[in-house]
Amino acid sequence: MKRRVAVLGATGIVGQRFVQLLAEHPWFDLELLMASERSAGKRYAEAVHWVLEKPMPRIAYELQLHPIDIEMLSKEKIDIVFTALPADVARDLEPQIARKGIVVVSNASSMRLEPDIPLLNPEVNADHVEVLEAQKRVRGWSGVIAKVPNCTTAILTLTLKPLVDEFGIRRVVVSTMQALSGAGLTGVPSMFILDNLIPYIEGEEEKVENESKKILGSVKSGRIEFNNNVEVTASCHRVMVLDGHTEAVFVELNRKASVDEVAKALEEFKGNKIRGLDLPTAPSKPVVVRKEVDRPQPRLDRMEGNGMSVVVGRIREDKVLNGVKYVVVGNNTIRGAAGNGVLIAELLVRKGYA
Ligand SMILES: NC(=O)c1ccc[n+]([C@@H]2O[C@H](COP(=O)([O-])OP(=O)(O)OC[C@H]3O[C@@H](n4cnc5c(N)ncnc54)[C@H](OP(=O)(O)O)[C@@H]3O)[C@@H](O)[C@H]2O)c1
Repeated sequence: MKRRVAVLGATGIVGQRFVQLLAEHPWFDLELLMASERSAGKRYAEAVHWVLEKPMPRIAYELQLHPIDIEMLSKEKIDIVFTALPADVARDLEPQIARKGIVVVSNASSMRLEPDIPLLNPEVNADHVEVLEAQKRVRGWSGVIAKVPNCTTAILTLTLKPLVDEFGIRRVVVSTMQALSGAGLTGVPSMFILDNLIPYIEGEEEKVENESKKILGSVKSGRIEFNNNVEVTASCHRVMVLDGHTEAVFVELNRKASVDEVAKALEEFKGNKIRGLDLPTAPSKPVVVRKEVDRPQPRLDRMEGNGMSVVVGRIREDKVLNGVKYVVVGNNTIRGAAGNGVLIAELLVRKGYA
């Protein structure tokens, strides 16, 4: 039976990706779109400033945009709500939706670090869904909330997980070059970014440093314990690229490994945590390794695996950290946001939560 789904924040960059990915999804029927009062009452095609590379799906054209309305979600028997709202709007709203018995898959940063809220990058930590039982019991919700990690962190942790499993990791240094779409539809004025680079993204470094430890953590007694054996430090920068975050990563390993061993571990990472579940949005290779000296590049590599794979290149020995260094590119609005959200919803369906 197909699940009835809604997108909240449907007119923004992440909302548009959700609409694109859900329009023809085999398990989900896109029933309701909601956004701010500015858009409410208009047809989707009329209200949205569509910016994605492919045309707007036909099914979305005539859908009407509603203001956020929790009663309407219940009345329309929505099973899953995908939220792409600013964090300050999501903070109070999402628990109210979960209380109504609806599954919430959220991109907003609110509640991401709470120990009973799974922060899912399914190939890395699908087992964290376990905490949902405790979440429902302790909070008294009949629905649940699952969070999509910060975009930079989702891309980074897909590459860290195989290294943690094979060699162990002590310290990670990451310097990012992040795409404009990561700042939202009206995020960075052209006068600020053309011919320029902005060496500051509010709150981003803390998100990468804290969320990575949670995603690489483990479940104990209904709570997620952060992996404090791994130290992460980040410097985040906005660059003049439309889509696709690039990250230069430096890793101190617990045991010495050659460049070939590291490449093999990354290339052979299958995302065992979701193997056999047959999730439609899961890429066949979550991490793709390229050998060319000048790859990965955002324009060439951001659509690998339909935007769900990350691409790693320039793997080299790091003599200072006694480990390795490499460059990774990932699609921030797909693997880092809506695509990961849809994959999480598929996981929740398979696990019986949706
Ligand atoms: N962009 C990315 O790569 C990315 C990656 C990971 C996570 N995120 C997170 O995902 C969320 C959405 O990001 P975005 O980049 O899509 O932002 P965006 O382009 O600015 O879109 C924001 C959306 O929220 C709606 N909205 C704003 N204020 C509202 C209000 N008071 N009530 C109801 N709806 C409201 C907007 O509707 P109107 O059009 O009607 O104003 C729009 O649909 C944010 O929390 C962001 O941090 C973004």
